[in-house]
Amino acid sequence: MERNMERWYNAVGQRFSVRKYAGAPSEEDMKSLFEVVSLLSARGVRIVLMRSESFFAKPLLGQGRISGTDCLAAIVSNGAAPETAGYLGETFALECAAMGLGTCWLGMAHFKRAAMKELELGEGEKLRIVMAFGIPAEKYAGRPRKNLDKLTGLTREELIALPEWQQRALECARLAPSAVNAQPWAFIPNANGVTVRRVNENFGYAGIDCGIAMLHIELGAAHCGVSGEWERTEGGNLFRPVS
Ligand SMILES: Cc1cc2nc3c(=O)[nH]c(=O)nc-3n(C[C@H](O)[C@H](O)[C@H](O)COP(=O)(O)O)c2cc1C
Repeated sequence: MERNMERWYNAVGQRFSVRKYAGAPSEEDMKSLFEVVSLLSARGVRIVLMRSESFFAKPLLGQGRISGTDCLAAIVSNGAAPETAGYLGETFALECAAMGLGTCWLGMAHFKRAAMKELELGEGEKLRIVMAFGIPAEKYAGRPRKNLDKLTGLTREELIALPEWQQRALECARLAPSAVNAQPWAFIPNANGVTVRRVNENFGYAGIDCGIAMLHIELGAAHCGVSGEWERTEGGNLFRPVS
């Protein structure tokens, strides 16, 4: 994992939600992705790669606007917090981006229902969310994000005065994807580290959204040589550097 942090950090600016695909990844890429998901299946989360024409068939095509691929990743949890599912799912999305592949998180209920028809769950397992992936047939689109002053409550001057690693971590977290692009988080940098706090439920996706932002915080920090640990606090999830 450690040696891939910079690879995933660099992929943050390449990842975007791809809804039109030019096909499934090559067999070689699929082989690599199976290895990736076996590494990422940890901490009570399992990522299952599936091929399913029926999942992407009409009427889902019309409702979800996903076309040109039959590949999906099902993110399954067994007692894991939704944040963990978001964190590990986004790692998969960034690895896809680093490989030149596209992804799209799919949280809407009809996607989950369709995936459930194809998925075998073990005892205690729950399907959290699914993600389409494949060869992108769309050009990069950088979608709008809230500014850091809004997300942190800090002025420009206060932001510039933060340690370099916190600035990179916040910039990276600002680019995190979220359901309906709601960005349901506040980022609180202070002497202890950086806290990710959820500010609304975002139709039930906020836990996954916050897990995605947590990965981005960690990647920005790692880019500056700072590693750390997550601690659940009353104010949210705190990333605390360890030396
Ligand atoms: C938890 C989650 C659920 C999402 N569900 C859907 C979905 O059901 N359908 C869809 O087209 N996009 C979905 N998205 C994609 C978001 O709309 C997208 O990430 C956001 O608008 C930001 O755009 P970007 O990913 O291109 O940066 C989801 C994203 C997340 C993180």
